[in-house]
Amino acid sequence: MYHGAEHKTITCYEKGLDLTVENARKCRRVHDRCGTTFTFFVMTVSILVFSLFEAIPFVHGVIGSYRILKALFKIALLPIVAGLSYELLKFLSKTNFFLFIPLKLPGLGLQMITTREPDDEMLEVAIAAFKKALLMDEDPEEPECRFVCPEKLAVLTSEIKAKLAEKGIDESDAEWIVSYATGYKRSELGKDVTVGGKAIDKANALAEERVTGRPLWYIVGNANFYGYEIKTDERALIPRPETEELVERALRHINGESKVLDLCTGSGAIAIAVKLKTGAEVTASDVSEDALSLARENAETLKADINFIKSDMFENIDGKFDVIISNPPYIKSGDIAGLQTEVKDYEPTLALDGGEDGLDFYRIIAKNAREYLTEKGIVFLEVGADQADSVKDMFDGFFVDVIKDISGVERIIKAVKI
Ligand SMILES: C[S@@+](CC[C@H](N)C(=O)[O-])C[C@H]1O[C@@H](n2cnc3c(N)ncnc32)[C@H](O)[C@@H]1O
Repeated sequence: MYHGAEHKTITCYEKGLDLTVENARKCRRVHDRCGTTFTFFVMTVSILVFSLFEAIPFVHGVIGSYRILKALFKIALLPIVAGLSYELLKFLSKTNFFLFIPLKLPGLGLQMITTREPDDEMLEVAIAAFKKALLMDEDPEEPECRFVCPEKLAVLTSEIKAKLAEKGIDESDAEWIVSYATGYKRSELGKDVTVGGKAIDKANALAEERVTGRPLWYIVGNANFYGYEIKTDERALIPRPETEELVERALRHINGESKVLDLCTGSGAIAIAVKLKTGAEVTASDVSEDALSLARENAETLKADINFIKSDMFENIDGKFDVIISNPPYIKSGDIAGLQTEVKDYEPTLALDGGEDGLDFYRIIAKNAREYLTEKGIVFLEVGADQADSVKDMFDGFFVDVIKDISGVERIIKAVKI
């Protein structure tokens, strides 16, 4: 069938038609210069040439008694046979004079066996391949196509795992990469299915990028946060699963009537989840214009109506809120150089650096929270491991709860204004 698609495409081109599936479909599936016809001519011409050769008296008499010599002479004649067949093919393809038609018919008849009517997808393949060949003819710099053989999903997954493991990168990243490149869920990677060259190329390209140290979620371009696809890139911190727990806790105290402030919003993940889950009035702020532009894109894509404000902490914030949520930068300045490459070299330092002891932003929040909270308003904060006690002590005049995350780390501070 692809043979037929190839003929139709060439005919379409030779007729000067646009190379489209519609035009190619109308062209015939046999072609005067086909290899099948050529094979037929080689057979016919060789019979003629070798018969004439045998008829030469010298050959018949002297050489004829030495079989090996005769065979060698025939081999030497093969270029003549091929050359004559080629010239015949070329000549006949240029004429439709009725006397020559009988010479064409056997080859065309054979092609009815070696070709079938192609479907539209096959025509698309043939057209794409032909266009590529034209490009390569026009421009010697045009690279050749590389054909990747399909392989089993499980094989691809273990190859990518091995590639990442060599650079000390976690196996689960390989699963995400293969899942993203092939469209199969991570839970389906054990399935006995074969994946094509495009998906394999994509998985390998993603793995190549991952071994440079670039975080998986920046490569993939989005991360799932609380059930929402959040676009991720170098403009803001990648939202983490621990922060979903912060949202989970805060949502228990938010409804459609609530006014909520997400301080240090980054990608906008917290604000978007709160808005979409509750319909509350949400304000989100960040000092970084880059982060805000990403947060706005995310809010627009997910249709979350949020009031974004560029602000150095509370500087440009007005009004009072029932709930203030924040996951501020909390890494000690001196610890940043020791973080993993994918964090320290790719995620914004502004999103990480919490000052000398990592607590600068909590001090600002604790100092201002009372003024920006409604009566019985609540502050929800994500804190780093070992920071909970220090942050708790900052909230004088609040009822403070320390909540552990699923790993048992004291991760969330809930401070209720009293
Ligand atoms: C740890 S990230 C959190 C991002 C997001 N809320 C999340 O959980 O994924 C901290 C954010 O604080 C922002 N930030 C840093 N300094 C700030 C400041 N002085 N005022 C407001 N935001 C600030 C950073 O730009 C960054 O987006």
